[in-house]
Amino acid sequence: MESAQLTQMEVNNTKIPPTEAGNRGLVFAVNGEKFEVAITDHSTTLLQFLRSHTRFKSPKLGCGEGGCGACVVVLSKYNPVLDRVEDFSVSSCLTLVCSVDGCSITTSEGLGNSKDGFHPIHERFAGFHASQCGYCTPGMCMSFFSALVKADKTNRPEPPPGFSKLTVSEAEKAIAGNLCRCTGYRPIADACKSFAADVDLEDLGINSFWRKGEPKEVKLRRLPSYTPDVRFNNYPEFLRGRSKSAKSLHFQNNSWYSPTTLEELESLLNSNATGDDMRIVVGNTGMGYYKELGNYNRYIDLRHVPELSMIRKNHQGIEIGAAVTISKVIEFLKEEGQVNSSSDGKQVFKKIADHMEKIASGFIRNSASIGGNLVMAQRKNFPSDIATVLLAVGSIVSITTGYKHERLTLEEFLARPPMDSRSLLFSVQIPFMEPKGNATSIASDSNLVFETYRAAPRPLGNALPYLNAAFLAVVSPHVKGVLINNIQLAFGAYGTKHAIRPNKVEDYLFGKILSVNVLYEAVKLVKVAVVPDFGTSHAAYRTSLAATFLFQFLSPFINVGAAISGSLSDGFTGSLQEDSSRICNGSSIGQLTNSTSLSSAKQEVTSSREYYPVGEPMLKSGATIQASGEAQYVDDIPSPPNCLHGSFIYSTKPLARVKGVDLLSNNQLSGVAGLISYKDIPERGENVGSVTMLGFEPLFADDLTRCAGEPIALVVAEKQKSADLEANSALVKYDTENLDPPILTVEEAVERSSFFEVPAFLYPKQVGDFSKGMAEADYTILSAEIKLRSQYHFYMETQTALAVPDEDNCIVVHTSTQCPEYAHRTIAKCLGIPEHNVRVITRRVGGGFGGKAMRAIPVATACALAAHKLRRPVRTYLNRKTDMIMIGGRHPMKITYDVGFKSNGKVTALHLDILINAGLSADFSPTMSLTIISTLKKYNWGALSFDVKVCKTNHSSKSAMRGPGEVQGSYIAEAIIEEIASVLLMEVDSVRNINLHTFESLNVFYGKAAGEAVEYTLTDMWNKLGVSSCFVQRKEMIEQFNQVNRWRKRGISRVPIVYEVVVRPTPGKVSILWDGTIVVEVGGIELGQGLWTKVRQITAYALSSIGCNGTENLVEKVRVIQSDTLSLVQGGLTAGSTTSESSCEAVRLCCNILVERLALLKSKLQEQMGPVNWDVLILQAHSQSVNMAASSYFVPQSNFMHYLNYGTAVSEVEVNILTGETKILQSDIIYDSGQSMNPAVDLGQIEGSFVQGIGFFMLEEFLTNADGLTITDSTWTYKIPTIDTIPMQLNVEMLNSGHHKQRVLSSKASGEPPLLLAVSVHCATKAAIKEARKQLNTWSGVDGPDSAFQLDVPAIMPVVKSLCGLDNVERYLESLLH
Ligand SMILES: Cc1cc2nc3c(=O)[nH]c(=O)nc-3n(C[C@H](O)[C@H](O)[C@H](O)COP(=O)(O)OP(=O)(O)OC[C@H]3O[C@@H](n4cnc5c(N)ncnc54)[C@H](O)[C@@H]3O)c2cc1C
Ligand code: FES
Ligand code: FES
Repeated sequence: MESAQLTQMEVNNTKIPPTEAGNRGLVFAVNGEKFEVAITDHSTTLLQFLRSHTRFKSPKLGCGEGGCGACVVVLSKYNPVLDRVEDFSVSSCLTLVCSVDGCSITTSEGLGNSKDGFHPIHERFAGFHASQCGYCTPGMCMSFFSALVKADKTNRPEPPPGFSKLTVSEAEKAIAGNLCRCTGYRPIADACKSFAADVDLEDLGINSFWRKGEPKEVKLRRLPSYTPDVRFNNYPEFLRGRSKSAKSLHFQNNSWYSPTTLEELESLLNSNATGDDMRIVVGNTGMGYYKELGNYNRYIDLRHVPELSMIRKNHQGIEIGAAVTISKVIEFLKEEGQVNSSSDGKQVFKKIADHMEKIASGFIRNSASIGGNLVMAQRKNFPSDIATVLLAVGSIVSITTGYKHERLTLEEFLARPPMDSRSLLFSVQIPFMEPKGNATSIASDSNLVFETYRAAPRPLGNALPYLNAAFLAVVSPHVKGVLINNIQLAFGAYGTKHAIRPNKVEDYLFGKILSVNVLYEAVKLVKVAVVPDFGTSHAAYRTSLAATFLFQFLSPFINVGAAISGSLSDGFTGSLQEDSSRICNGSSIGQLTNSTSLSSAKQEVTSSREYYPVGEPMLKSGATIQASGEAQYVDDIPSPPNCLHGSFIYSTKPLARVKGVDLLSNNQLSGVAGLISYKDIPERGENVGSVTMLGFEPLFADDLTRCAGEPIALVVAEKQKSADLEANSALVKYDTENLDPPILTVEEAVERSSFFEVPAFLYPKQVGDFSKGMAEADYTILSAEIKLRSQYHFYMETQTALAVPDEDNCIVVHTSTQCPEYAHRTIAKCLGIPEHNVRVITRRVGGGFGGKAMRAIPVATACALAAHKLRRPVRTYLNRKTDMIMIGGRHPMKITYDVGFKSNGKVTALHLDILINAGLSADFSPTMSLTIISTLKKYNWGALSFDVKVCKTNHSSKSAMRGPGEVQGSYIAEAIIEEIASVLLMEVDSVRNINLHTFESLNVFYGKAAGEAVEYTLTDMWNKLGVSSCFVQRKEMIEQFNQVNRWRKRGISRVPIVYEVVVRPTPGKVSILWDGTIVVEVGGIELGQGLWTKVRQITAYALSSIGCNGTENLVEKVRVIQSDTLSLVQGGLTAGSTTSESSCEAVRLCCNILVERLALLKSKLQEQMGPVNWDVLILQAHSQSVNMAASSYFVPQSNFMHYLNYGTAVSEVEVNILTGETKILQSDIIYDSGQSMNPAVDLGQIEGSFVQGIGFFMLEEFLTNADGLTITDSTWTYKIPTIDTIPMQLNVEMLNSGHHKQRVLSSKASGEPPLLLAVSVHCATKAAIKEARKQLNTWSGVDGPDSAFQLDVPAIMPVVKSLCGLDNVERYLESLLH
């Protein structure tokens, strides 16, 4: 792999020649190739370098802030102290390229590729169906690879052949920081676990290597083989000698310094030459949070100064150099926790290490330094975990300012004014917790107790905490209980300047014997001490957590004096974790006992060979090249010469005149080539950003901007970075004088009659007579309200396009879109050119979920306009923040309803008033009434009436998102059912049951879409799932669990779904080439949903009906190619879950034509030469000028365009009522897939959409400010599910409901409907909260049932805790006191 090639690279087009040692260029290796480069812009990241200056495009830009893992590569670096090469993962989007001098970088294509052979990781990711859109996959592979290498380099016992030394638990944790929006993680976890020495192959899910029930030996044989260690030795010789010699690296202009001695460092820091515009740097991960786009004049890299990179022990404690990475600190503390120190000290080190393992993710911790973290906390109020934890143990820091060296406590350090840029944090010392000695000395009968706490949206990290805490106490037995001899408390990250020690609470507790009363007083005091600064989100929740943590720490000491002599951690903390597992034992919910594994799963799928190879769980087309990173997405297409880059300037005001836009920099210097706005629309063109039959959207705001997030202009510059910088710093002058106030709520829209028209054919029909139904009711609920918020698509690849001007006033636009045809029309209209002058090409899309339908079009159109105007290629790739702000997301809505029902729970009538916030433009919004009502009709409401208004507001346009309207409709139905149950004090499940449709009522509500009685599988599935999930027994067990567990409550819920889909017309084209291979074009776009795979299968099936030899593996000869709007017209939309099946049907029609054309020739040949071979037949056909290309346009019959999908799910959750955390213990799903065309693909859709639904219901807060500008605009603030937030046990059964006459080969849709099943998790959470509230009432002496309450969506931790009682700890203590 190694090449002797010497590459002279330039960055920023300014050539600086490599010079003599000490002032030279960088030398490093990428996948064995040598790069020698001169860098002038030292803020260039490794990712920018790799993607723009090498052919290795597997590291992707997903967030640019360390929060997603798409850019992960493995860095191999020589460690001079240990004299060995160390390999570890890093996020290349934060790693500065200057800091990889002397290193070797391995990307996913460096592990293996289509030319040299794939790595078993690639093959197993593909084989376990762990890659859908593939955008996250190379980063996943590299995160996992780094864990594999690390484990295999340990001296653990040799694993069995084919396996690694890695454990199952490590395999799962290896990818805990990587985001995937498609798969739901279960298959990724399986691919990773398949390498683990302790894996039970039986536990692994559906894959392409073996079939269920095959013997272990067969399974082992079929797994792509893995041999530890042998494969990875990617540190080339040319780096070896070089790395061993100490070096200082610096450039004369715009300098980067890598001093190698303290003296050198000090003189640099104190030299006038460095100036103020200087930045000390270690891992540069701080940039992920602060995102400074600008450049510094000087960088000083601390990592080569030995004193700063060492961990030393002296008699006082462990001194950690400031440049030591968090990973190294964890490793050291874990080792230290095992040897040398006293048992108390060991616990402290181990717990600090455990806490640090929850900081960020592995690939961040590997480069993030402990010093960088503390400086960020000190200088910029970063919500640090390290500061809090080290504060509690009385750490000491050493700093240097000028030539002055100081040692001070961490507390003093944090309280000081922010360090200036020349001050250096030298080290931090963690004191030993020994029985004798310093401030933490412990008398002989005393015990030292240390605990740390952290409440964050994701248990394993990759999420900042709402609050963190660490407590150290020295306690001793006393005749009256437990005496507190000393106590140090630290709280942080709760929206304050820095971590604090609440002295009043410490003083109060010091010398006290713990009692309920003392604890109660301490809790009250802590709530006064831990108060977030004004404006902090969820402030009351954060304060309540402080009380909770203190309670958790101290309560075990009350009346447990005897326990003190027991084990430090188990003795104390164990008593709080009361009586949990005894209930679980022997039940179907034994997951909590399985501590090694985060997730486990079962899948029941039946594949049918009736239409072989349709029905086979075939490998996803392109999965291996997706894993190796060779699959090409729009941003991977190399830039044509002269290419410019665009970045949007968007409005931050909801309604204002735009008086002008000023760019801050000198255009010439910053490489700005133009500022494109509505003024640049050609004379014959129009200011349109998307055009549909429902309306159009302007491309740019004209003189008036009408929503925050609306594009105002596109800055076009030589580099993406310059364009981003300019857009970010541009000054837009607004004026709001004499303008009406903007419409920001649906209520205001109603007041001002601001609505989008809904065409009659898109308005659903009422059912029955509402007044009559209400008259029949025993009970009514009137004017009840439900509110639902938005959700962001969070496709891993943000919006992107590349527009290239072509001859004769034509343009070619590559765009990542779900509807190229619409983009095509819009671009032509905007540029004022005929449609045949535009060509739109889309090969694959890195996740869409509806967000790349209409919302992708303005991005493509703006690029096209800029390219058209400037006559140069223009590309753009939206940064995550701009994407989140401009794209809009799901529709928020407000629902008011009246419902009437009988005393047995049977609903007699329902009326709803629904106000949908559609934002600025129509987009798909007029279809929302139809979709909401359609899924809401899953229950028989007796009579159903509604008034749905699609409100036009000054918010960014809301658009389709997986299950648009359907997910809200289904939720509204459940919320109403729950409300009815709570009024009647009935089991919710019984109310659901009694309102399920019979086939007759289904017909009334859905008409023709209901199909035939035999197709209505819902009630059977409902009953089946009741049995297979042990619903009744588990309910009983949960009741018992809740009775004996005070701080954890469980809930379970079963929900049904009915989901109507529409099959749309779709084109197809099949061509057979001379060698018998086949090329297919379809209207649908491959978004990760497996469309190409199904198309290949059906092509092979349909063509093999010719009945000749050699068609068994025809599927291997089929290639589906990119969508090209001039090659295949009328492509339409890839949306609504039915594009795969309609594309398949279009292809089948083409194949039928070809088979018909070939039939005569085949008979002739057969007569002449006996059995005919496929290759011969095709050769002959070409020779005899048979037309070997066929195209078709599938138009479904109007009677069969609509059909219903059914599914049901049971979810069980456990809520920690102290923190509000919800764990999903188990979800069981049965989904009617019809006769699945590819069970592996459909299973992936079911699991992936279910997990995306969990995101909507439980995690993802998509918030705006008062002006409607999105404020949760990053991976720091927007939390999609990760592997540690999915169900611990996920069981999916795909029901094969056999023949559906009018469905494409009896198949059914799977892309969107299963998302709705995730409401089961929300309902189960509500059930658990109900139990918590019942208990809270008993503590307050209130008898009887709890009043009805609503659980907001998403049910994030603060929401759940608020309902369980922010003061539940105090209420409990009060109940003990009275
Ligand atoms: C995605 C992500 C998630 C994270 N999650 C968490 C979390 O949950 N909890 C948590 O505590 N932290 C978290 N962090 C913060 C992380 O720990 C810090 O970014 C990291 O430790 C900083 O170290 P660095 O070497 O990268 O610093 P750099 O980015 O190189 O530097 C950071 C700042 O400190 C200055 N600096 C660095 N070292 C010194 C020194 N020795 N003397 C003087 N100045 C110095 C730099 O000039 C710069 O201003 C997260 C970070 C990321 C990117
Ligand atoms: S792109 Fe680097 S972590 Fe997201
Ligand atoms: S496959 Fe993971 S994001 Fe699409």
